[in-house]
Amino acid sequence: MSFKTVGIIGAGTMGSGIATSLAGQGVAVALVDMTEAAVERGLGAVSKFYGRAAEKGKMSAEDADAAVARVSGGADLAALAQCDLIIEAVFEEFSVKEDLYAKLNDILPETAVVATNTSALKVSELAEGYKDPARFLGLHYFNPAAINPIVEVVRGEKTDPALFDAALAFCRETGKKPIACKDHYGFAINRFFVPYGNEAVRLMDEGVGTPAQIDRVARECLEVAAGPFLVMNLVKPKIMYHAQNNLGPHGAFYAIADTLKAKGDADYEFEIGEDAAGDAASDAKIADRLRAAVFFPILQELDEDVASAADIDMGAALALRFGKEPCRLMDALGKDEVRRIVALATEAYGHAMPASLERVGSLRD
Ligand SMILES: NC(=O)c1ccc[n+]([C@@H]2O[C@H](COP(=O)([O-])OP(=O)(O)OC[C@H]3O[C@@H](n4cnc5c(N)ncnc54)[C@H](O)[C@@H]3O)[C@@H](O)[C@H]2O)c1
Repeated sequence: MSFKTVGIIGAGTMGSGIATSLAGQGVAVALVDMTEAAVERGLGAVSKFYGRAAEKGKMSAEDADAAVARVSGGADLAALAQCDLIIEAVFEEFSVKEDLYAKLNDILPETAVVATNTSALKVSELAEGYKDPARFLGLHYFNPAAINPIVEVVRGEKTDPALFDAALAFCRETGKKPIACKDHYGFAINRFFVPYGNEAVRLMDEGVGTPAQIDRVARECLEVAAGPFLVMNLVKPKIMYHAQNNLGPHGAFYAIADTLKAKGDADYEFEIGEDAAGDAASDAKIADRLRAAVFFPILQELDEDVASAADIDMGAALALRFGKEPCRLMDALGKDEVRRIVALATEAYGHAMPASLERVGSLRD
C-alpha cells in the first residue's frame, strides 16, 4: 500500500468517519484532536460503527474488534511524526488550518504527505502554509465517510504528480472510488450538486412549485433517491448557503437564492409538506430548470478539465445517488435538447454556452 500509517487531525464528523473507513481496510490510524474529550468522541464513533456492524452480522466480532484496535487517539500532534499520510479534517476556516500547518511544519518529516479534507477552500492556497506544497493535496471524502465510496482527490498547483497518483492508488486500495480533480471551487461534485439545490430554492421563491412538488419532479426527471429539499434538510440549509457562497467566483448563475441568502447562518429546515401535486406546465418548467442547474456547471467543468465525464457520473451516482448519470443523460437527450435546457441558465444569467455542448452525444464515449 502506498501509505501504511495515517494520521487524522480533527476527530469530528469527517475525521472519525475517515478513521472508521481506513481502519476497516486494515490501515493503522492515529486520530488527533485538541482535547482528550474530542478524541474520545471520535474513538467512540469508530467503536459504535463496528459494534453495530458486528451486531447486524455484517462482520465477525473479531474483525470488528481488530478494526477498532487499529485506531489510536490522543491530543498530541507529535504522534503524527510517525505517519506517512496526514489527513487534516479540522474546522473549515482558513486561519485554523493555516495555524495548524505552521505547527506541522516543525513536527513532520520531509517525507510526510499532507492532505486536506476541505470542501470549500482552495487546496493550492492552503498548500502555501505547508513547508512543502509539492507534498500537499486535497482528499475530499463525502459524509458519511465510513460508507460513502467517493473521494475527490484534488491536485493543487504545486502537487507532485507522482504523489497525486499515489493518493489515487491509496483511495482505491482502501475501498474508495477516487475522482481525480483540478483545484476549482466546488471541485467536481459540489460544483453542480449545490447549484441544483440552489435552483430548487429559486423555483420555490418564484412560486413555480412547492418544495414537495419540486422534490417529486426531481425524483422523476433525474431519478434522484431523494429530492433537493429533503437532501438540503439533511445537509442543513446553512451549509448549502455557505457552499453556494463559495461558488460565487464562477459567475452570476451561482448567485445565492433569496431564501438561502436571507436566512444565511440561521438553523432551520425547509417545510416540505405533503402537497406534491402540480400541473404539467409547472412540472415541465421545474424539470428543465433543475436539469439546467446540473448540466450547465458540468459542461463548464468539462470545458475547464476539472474532472472526466465518467468520473462526474460516478460521483453523481455513488455520492449523490442520482439514478440518471448526468453526462449519460445529456448524451441520451442529444445536443439540441441540451442546448435548449442549458440556455435557460446561460441566457438568464449572461453566461456563454460551454464549448463542451458540442461533445454532447459522445461525452461518455
Ligand atoms: N461535514 C461534512 O459533511 C463534510 C463533508 C466533506 C468535507 N468536510 C470538511 O471536513 C472538515 C471537517 O469537518 P467536520 O464536519 O468533520 O467538522 P467537525 O466540526 O465535526 O469536526 C472538526 C474537529 O476538528 C477539531 N479541531 C479544530 N481545530 C483543531 C486543531 N487545530 N487541531 C486539532 N483538532 C482541531 C475540532 O475539535 C473538531 O473535533 C472541514 O474542512 C469540512 O469542510 C465536511
